[in-house]
Amino acid sequence: MTVLEASPFVRACRGLPGPHTPVWFMRQAGRSLPEYRKIRAGVGMLESCRRPDLVTEITLQPVRRHGVDAAILFSDIVVPVAAAGIDLDIVAGTGPVVAEPIRSAPDLERLRPITPDDVDFVAESVRLLVAELGSTPLIGFAGAPFTLASYLIEGGPSRTYLKTKAMMYAQPDLWHALLGRLSEITLTFLRTQVDAGVSAVQLFDSWAGALSEADYRQYVLPHSAAVLSGLAGAGVPRIHFGVGTAVLLEAMGEAGADVVGVDWRTPLDVATKRLGPEKAVQGNLDPAILFAGWETVERETRRVLAQGAAAPGHVFNLGHGVMPETDPEILTRLVALVHEVSGRS
Ligand code: CP3
Repeated sequence: MTVLEASPFVRACRGLPGPHTPVWFMRQAGRSLPEYRKIRAGVGMLESCRRPDLVTEITLQPVRRHGVDAAILFSDIVVPVAAAGIDLDIVAGTGPVVAEPIRSAPDLERLRPITPDDVDFVAESVRLLVAELGSTPLIGFAGAPFTLASYLIEGGPSRTYLKTKAMMYAQPDLWHALLGRLSEITLTFLRTQVDAGVSAVQLFDSWAGALSEADYRQYVLPHSAAVLSGLAGAGVPRIHFGVGTAVLLEAMGEAGADVVGVDWRTPLDVATKRLGPEKAVQGNLDPAILFAGWETVERETRRVLAQGAAAPGHVFNLGHGVMPETDPEILTRLVALVHEVSGRS
């Protein structure tokens, strides 16, 4: 068994026992870290994602500082979409902004398939990181077809997903053609990362919680399932995450991942009852709790660990990304607490 297969993170993803519950944080690399703000000064977000020297340094920063059990590649969900020919930018404080949104069949032609060469900077970053990380696994990731489509159709972030849902209901053929293209792009992007050496992948369907279960099953699940099943033989655990997905948990599990990411609204023991004995879970401390004082952090962390123990495997995480205002010292203490409370030594 390789050191990475034996790591607490990969073992928990596979539902196997380990020395302690592994912990990492979504958005662990980013504005909560002064060393990140320093290195990013004057460099655009997309540009930094395309520079393997910066990607490597930024990805390693939270591993060095917090001692987390996994690194996550520094990139963004829109990187493969930009490589596919879409003119977009990532605007600080806003998120991805698309110059010309996709709203019609001719618009769809601007979204080309990608080849591994289109994202060679990602493969290079992964190779550099795997060499540096040693026994710490690297998580690769991509946005899921629905969440990517929401940015392409709306043109930027949205609270209501009005244009996205309007296309879904009124132009189902165009909708499925768009999500089909996005699932192919996503699969190529993830396979490139697996071939370069990542130890696990996470599919971010951050905004799927905007949908009913019936609509998720009809309009989204087949496309996310195509991505996840396309990686079934890749030999790495697949994590599937969304926010506000309480009504979607069973359906998200059926899409085929090994681990389901759960936000703070659903206790992990309840999630496990609904997902069944085959799925490991990841989560789910509310990122806002990190602003409530250490006593609360400690109490809530113990509760999450106790509820996570019901699952065949538990990867401790927040229920969504680290907020930029978070005190990084609390995150370091939290990693030590998770290791101490869950340690079997
Ligand atoms: O540490 C990590 O988790 C890896 C890095 C990572 C980023 N984006 C870096 C980033 C990951 C995994 C993502 C995924 C991502 N990007 C998602 C899914 C995860 C989630 O949060 O639900 C989504 C929806 C996006 C789209 C996006 N990109 C948003 C909403 C934003 C925030 C806008 C802002 O400035 O508040 C971005 C920009 C972005 N991606 C930043 C980082 C560190 C901030 C930009 C900066 O630091 O200048």
